[in-house]
Amino acid sequence: MKPIQVGLLGIGTVGSGTFNVLQRNQEEIKRRAGRGIEITMVADLDVARAQSIVGPDVKVVNDARAVIANPDIDIVIELIGGYGIAKALVLEAIAAGKHVVTANKALLAVHGTEIFAAASAKGVMVAFEAAVAGGIPIIKALREGLTANSIQWIAGIINGTTNFILSEMRDKGLDFDVVLKEAQRLGYAEADPTFDIEGVDAAHKVTLMSAIAFGIPVQFDKAYVEGITQLGATDIKYAEQLGYRIKLLGITKRTDKGIELRVHPSLVPSKRLIANVEGAMNAVVVQGDAVGTTLYYGKGAGSEPTASAVIADLVDITRLHTADPLHRVPHLAFQPDAMSDLAV
Ligand code: HSE
Repeated sequence: MKPIQVGLLGIGTVGSGTFNVLQRNQEEIKRRAGRGIEITMVADLDVARAQSIVGPDVKVVNDARAVIANPDIDIVIELIGGYGIAKALVLEAIAAGKHVVTANKALLAVHGTEIFAAASAKGVMVAFEAAVAGGIPIIKALREGLTANSIQWIAGIINGTTNFILSEMRDKGLDFDVVLKEAQRLGYAEADPTFDIEGVDAAHKVTLMSAIAFGIPVQFDKAYVEGITQLGATDIKYAEQLGYRIKLLGITKRTDKGIELRVHPSLVPSKRLIANVEGAMNAVVVQGDAVGTTLYYGKGAGSEPTASAVIADLVDITRLHTADPLHRVPHLAFQPDAMSDLAV
């Protein structure tokens, strides 16, 4: 069977990681997917730089719409980010009958209902494992591994930048601004770091987890969002003296009144595992009625960790096209179970 052909929109940190890991592990990925997976076309504004990453065998263009218009492309990966052009391109790819893989949590948290509805109508997948907690397969855990459970709550450190800042402020007594610059230098922070430090990025991610866990529409506008900009070194020091660490948690919880959805700094007892998640790492705790408490830990950002999640989605979609029942994953686009407005 000829390889499934993938078009990549935007080849920055995650895009180049995706290309490299697909190349490096191509035989294993092919065996698991039942078919080869190849990035055959890339769109990027900097064509020369993109061509130097992918080599001469991959067609590089500066017009994303040329990728979407290519009838040989089965899957489009959107790694442009933001709500603007990315939204238009994702909707155009769906309309053209392409499956879409995206790491764009902002886009899905804000416009997910429209995008998932378009994908369902067209019978294509919109897969977004990379959008939440980078390399941690938390979307698959919620959708597949924990699918028997009534989820009671989820709490996670899902923004590496703020966790890095809080860890460095505590360990080295450094000021917030100094550590933020370091996080940006290391490539953890969003293009606009206010999304990280004001809790918006974490709120995008917890909104997506909440929608999957509780079967509600994605409704970022219902989230309570508070970041870490008001925290000083003394808050961190006093918390420590009282036996707590301050962590920016994304929390979603089933209550009698509806589903809570919130991001804010939280006092976590120092002896808890999640209190000891340091640096840019992510961790998510999920409480299910059958399984009890489960904990997922790993890199929430970075080139190859995020590529790992992007490629997992490519493999899932490819399995839909293969005949191997052991590996076929049947779900199509995300669809909420209920359209009621449950967030409180
Ligand atoms: N800015 C994000 C973070 C990147 O710091 O976690 C991954 O979504």
